[in-house]
Amino acid sequence: MKYPRRVHITEVGARDGLQNEAQDVPATVKIALIERLSAAGFRNIEAGAFVSPKWVPQMASSGAVMDGITRRSGVTYSALTPNMQGLEAALAARADEVVIFGAASEAFSRKNINCSIAESIERFRPVADAAHAQGLRVRAALSCALGCPYQGEVPVAAVVDGVRRFADLGCDEIGIADTIGVGTPARVAAVFEAAASVYPLARISGHFHDTYGQALANILACLGLGVARFDASVAGLGGCPYARGATGNVATEDVLFMLHGMGIDTGIDLDLVCAAGQYISDVLGRPPQSRVNRALAAKRATASA
Ligand code: HMG
Ligand code: MG
Repeated sequence: MKYPRRVHITEVGARDGLQNEAQDVPATVKIALIERLSAAGFRNIEAGAFVSPKWVPQMASSGAVMDGITRRSGVTYSALTPNMQGLEAALAARADEVVIFGAASEAFSRKNINCSIAESIERFRPVADAAHAQGLRVRAALSCALGCPYQGEVPVAAVVDGVRRFADLGCDEIGIADTIGVGTPARVAAVFEAAASVYPLARISGHFHDTYGQALANILACLGLGVARFDASVAGLGGCPYARGATGNVATEDVLFMLHGMGIDTGIDLDLVCAAGQYISDVLGRPPQSRVNRALAAKRATASA
């Protein structure tokens, strides 16, 4: 099996991770987390979401967060923008990349962004055009590509259709998301292969929630196809407020340990990511949901005893 030699990781913990937290996480904490992450070597950090604060209260501080971070050169600070109102806020906050987010499932589209798939694409069109006109990168996320919490099965054809629609909007990257973590490797490979028949594989990324413990296996299946871009969440933070029961994204520490162990370069310092994961977990008052983070902490404790 020939795997990519280098893999790009987009760190989504400060957005996908924290959006689901019931307790208020102050902007100062989010800023401190993002700065730890940029110091660890990530080149793309999802820093917030310019969505309705009535829908996702935790993201209401996204403007303050983006204003407060010290920008490192070479780092793309990205933000979710569901509509023109979100794009204007993202531009004001000097986002480098915007993420438009749709779904392969009609039911999830309505629950998450209050419109049909077709309506969402028409809403995204001016967002993508205006972002490009301002020189921003446009990434798309296609939720529920492996299953939907409301409608169950999602046909591969619905994923291909979603990818094609995002491709028509001129998106620079399309993320295929397993929002509720139900995908298994053979199915994931089939979905990504089908997506690659309508959009360049090099610009497709994988976004795997780890609800059923399948995320690393699914990433490995993608690597086997040549997919070299993945989202991951430090300390395994998160979930989606509109997909009840879904746990966080695959933990970044676990992905890095696997990739580095396979000799795949990421440019990211695992020890610094572990420290960032410990920092935010301490603030939230629970251990990191990353087995690698916990194992390395136990190893360090034994060594210093
Ligand atoms: P709506 O209620 O249909 O919107 O919501 P509207 O246009 O009718 O406006 C209603 C109110 O919302 C108005 O305020 C607007 O100003 C305000 P009011 O007059 O009532 O005071 N509003 C906004 N406020 C701030 N920023 C905005 C904005 N837009 C309208 N951009 C809307 C439609 C899309 C806004 C809403 O459904 C929404 O915000 N949804 C976001 C849901 C969300 O953030 N979900 C989590 C992120 S997606 C995810 O996690 C999945 C992903 O990780 C991939 C995966 O795992 O699958 C990406
Ligand atoms: Mg997600």
